[in-house]
This record gives sequence, C-alpha cells and structure tokens, in this order.
Amino acid sequence: MSQERLNAFCASKLDELDNKGILKGRERIITRIVAPEWIKKGWLPDANEDKAFGPRYFLVGDDNPYLLMNSNSYLGLSLHPDVIAAEEKASQNFGTGPGAVRFISGTFTPHIELENKLAAFHQRESAMIFSAAYATVMGVLPPLIDDKTLVISDELNHNSIINAIRLSHPAQKAIYKHLDLNNLEQILSVHASSKENAATQKIRRVLVVTDGIFSMRGDHAPLNSILEICQQHEKRYAEGIITIVDDSHGIGAFGETGRGTEEYTHCQADILIATLGKALGVNGGYVVASKPVIDYLREISPFYVYSNPITPSEALAAKKSLDILDSSEGLARLKKIRSLTSHFKSGLIDLGFETISGEHPIAPLVVRNTQKTSRLIRHLFDNKIIATGLNYPVVPLGDEEIRFQINANHTKLDIDQVLKILQNSDYA
Ligand SMILES: Cc1ncc(COP(=O)(O)O)c(C=O)c1O
Repeated sequence: MSQERLNAFCASKLDELDNKGILKGRERIITRIVAPEWIKKGWLPDANEDKAFGPRYFLVGDDNPYLLMNSNSYLGLSLHPDVIAAEEKASQNFGTGPGAVRFISGTFTPHIELENKLAAFHQRESAMIFSAAYATVMGVLPPLIDDKTLVISDELNHNSIINAIRLSHPAQKAIYKHLDLNNLEQILSVHASSKENAATQKIRRVLVVTDGIFSMRGDHAPLNSILEICQQHEKRYAEGIITIVDDSHGIGAFGETGRGTEEYTHCQADILIATLGKALGVNGGYVVASKPVIDYLREISPFYVYSNPITPSEALAAKKSLDILDSSEGLARLKKIRSLTSHFKSGLIDLGFETISGEHPIAPLVVRNTQKTSRLIRHLFDNKIIATGLNYPVVPLGDEEIRFQINANHTKLDIDQVLKILQNSDYA
C-alpha cells in the first residue's frame, strides 16, 4: 500500500519537472567507441594537422558514428594506452575493488603512491583521495565549519559546495555575486566591523569557497585578488580567513602546466579540491592541504571514514595520468587543447555567435533562449554531434547556452566539422 503512494508521489514529482521543462529524461547510452590508430598508440597529431579525425561514439540502437563535444576528459587520457595498461596491470595485482574503507583494510600502496604524487604535484604537504570530487567537497567543508564560522560562497559555485554548506551548521552564510570582488569585500567588512560580532565573537573563522573554473561558463575565479582581499581582512577575525578552491574543471586543463586556476593566477589557496574524473581521465576526487588539516580530515570526514576509496587500479591509472600530464607529452596535450579552443571560439565569433572568452576548453555558445537552444542541440544531433544544452535553472534565465568542451583527442577536422554544421543552422 505504501509503495503505491510512494510511486504516485514520485510520478507527480517527475510530472512537475517535465511541466517545468527541466526533466533530464532518458540518458544516452554509449555502446562502443571507435578510436583511430593514433589514439590507440598514444600519439598526438598537433592542432594544425588536418588529415586525422578523432574518436567516434556509437549509441544504443543507432549505427551512426557521433562526435562527442561534451566530455570532461580534456586531456584525452581516458583512452590513452599507458593509462589503460596501468589500470589493467593494477587490477591483476590488487583485484577489482578495495573491499573495505581505508581504515579497515582498504588502503593499498597505489592509494598512498597517488596521494604522495598529488601532494608533490600541487606543492602541498599532504593529499587525501575520496571516491569523487563531490564526496570530497561534502567531506571537507562540514568538518571545518562550526557554529562560529561564516561561510562565503560565489553564487555560481558547483552544486556540491551548495550541498556541503547545507550539511554544515555555520553561524552565518553569505553568497557574493559571481566573481564580484567588491561584493565579497563588502561581506567581509560588514561582518568584521559589526559591533555585535566584536561583543559576542559570534564569528571567529571565515571560509571563502569558490570554484576555480566555473563549469557552465569556463570562466575562472581571480584567485590572486580573492586571496589579497582575504589577507587584508584576515586579522579582523579571531581564527582568520581560510580559502578553499574546487578546481575540478581546471586541473589538467588550465594553466601552462595544467595546475589549474592557482597556476593561471599565480597563487595558492589554503585548501585545494579537484577530481580525478575529468582531465585526468579516471575517477575519484582529492584534497591537498597542510598535514594537520589532512590528518584531521582523515580521522573524522564521514565521506572518507565510512565510504570506500577509489579502486587500487583507478589509483594507479590516475597516477599514470599525472605522470603524463607532468611530462613533455602533457605540455603538448595542453598546448593542443588551447589551440583548438582558440580556433573554435574564433570560429563561433566569425559565424556571428556569442561565446565567453578565455583559454579553458569549455567553449559556451551563448544562445539566451530556451527554445532556440533546444532546436540548435537537435540540429547538431541530427548531424551526429553531441553537445550539452543548458537551460534554466542550470543556468540563470537569459543565459541559456550550448556547452561545447574541447579535448586533446579532437582534431582540427572535428572542430571544423562542428563549425560547418553550426554555419548550416538557422542561427548563424
Ligand atoms: C566544480 C566541481 N566540483 C565537483 C564536481 C564533481 O566531480 P566528480 O564527478 O568527481 O564527483 C564537478 C563536476 O561537474 C565540478 O564541476
């Protein structure tokens, strides 16, 4: 009986989403990937090479090859033979799953090797891996927030940050307008100079949390300026101001050597969070910080203590991806995505489309209309190109867009194919 009522409740919620036009609906199922020989051999045609195509994807019940323009695997490493070999070899040695959480019997040498490598890569004392970046954010923020903490967050921060703050019990939360540093400064000033706070010490610690790269737009937080503002106000709070950056889209895709928004803006936040599941092509999340912070989180963060880590084979695959990123091949892959991104964005502008400038391989085509976005996505799909249409409430009303993502397995021919199909649409 209760089951029937629960079914009715879920069905009505689905109808509600459908009526609002925000139902995601059935997922596309990829049945196989056909990768060209150069990918299978780990070669990389440079951005100007105009004879090769990248991989094509096949969907269930459909014999057509599709060009994928919405993968987060920015460096193309998820299909790299060395990364695949590292994963396969590790699963031969360690089996398929960890079998337990870290403190029971789920810690294997690959986890430790990866954590050491991540700490060194980001020049931090310590690193700690989680099952996903989402779990990392949920596992890191609440233990650092208590009833004397003020949390300040950019309005376009990722859903994981929003939910991590909801899971916490801060004295107060505040949201600043996207990238609006005057607004951030104002919030810091108001609370620091409040007489009530001086008398009651209601707020002793401040956490300023931001995405590095914002996933809907590909723009980045000006971390150096954020850090400067925080430094100016730091002494006005008994326990200072802690800066936390989630650069899941930035690591491996942004900055000269792929160290993300910190590298691009020449600074270092107190705590950095990122994913192993985007540019690094594997799966999982991590945090790097000082040793005492990581030691503390390892003891009490529930998403770490009570949840399995990534598999040992994922850990060694991710370590191999980091080795590649940190080599001349990594630099070449980064150079290629910068070059293809610039080629694509100038192509969009030449066709009369609006985009958002910047070097990150997220390349939005800003449509500013829900119906037009849906029609353009359909036109692309009919021409065997898969991209992501973003409508309200995922983006604010009026900011509807198509998000294209460039990766190192794309070629100039692929990008030109997308531009040509856009040119043949009603909107160019
Ligand atoms: C800023 C940010 N944080 C976290 C995540 C989640 O990453 P993961 O898939 O590793 O949980 C994403 C993914 O879209 C993201 O953009």
